[in-house]
Amino acid sequence: MIRIAAVGDVHVDKDVVGRYRPALEQLPERADALLVAGDLTRHGTVDEAQCFATEFGGLAVPVVVVLGNHDHQSDQEQQVTEVLTDAGITVLECSSTVLEIRGHRLGIAGAKGFGGGFAGACASNFGEREMKTFVGVTEDISARLGEALRAVECDALVALTHYAPVPETLIGEPLEIYPFLGCYQLGNAIDSAPTALALHGHAHHGSERGRTPGGVPVRNVAHPVIKQAYNVYQLLSESVDSELVSA
Ligand SMILES: [Fe+2]
Repeated sequence: MIRIAAVGDVHVDKDVVGRYRPALEQLPERADALLVAGDLTRHGTVDEAQCFATEFGGLAVPVVVVLGNHDHQSDQEQQVTEVLTDAGITVLECSSTVLEIRGHRLGIAGAKGFGGGFAGACASNFGEREMKTFVGVTEDISARLGEALRAVECDALVALTHYAPVPETLIGEPLEIYPFLGCYQLGNAIDSAPTALALHGHAHHGSERGRTPGGVPVRNVAHPVIKQAYNVYQLLSESVDSELVSA
């Protein structure tokens, strides 16, 4: 069994440093890795990235993250990524990593993702150049996430995104903003590989549990949804959902 701790939308700035650390220090007893589903910071500044690195860096378990839309706000995503990488945190963007955990290979492919909406209520690649550009970004990121997922050689595969791959985990959010919270193309990418679990954030008022059309369990781990420092999920086990909870 592999145990994965996950949270998203922690939006760290100076005032948050120290809030997560006590629960994070207990991670080695509870989980084998920590995945963070984007919106690590409030405005994507280098200072805030350093605060995130202080809070989430130097842990006794590997930490793997994707960036969120907030982490792009200051157009400093490269510098933010460098700060995190220097702190030993793995940042994925249409890429993957494999962790060796007690003889098992845990594969994680991640991407920020993008909006666009879901079946029957989505943006389409038609009309104005701006709309084609918007949908083009969605399709490009989703296609590259799919490629990253299919390329990983591992025993258990996790997809990590910021935007949602299914509408089920958005329940609680206003329907009008679903197209800005995720897109069906991410769900198709996840279903194109033998994905065991899909984790995302972004939807602060959404719901924790959903499933892709292909049957992959989806969990919205946005901090306001899970209401604790992290949830723990199990792979290579009968049930994804763990009885273990964090402080
Ligand atoms: Fe977000």
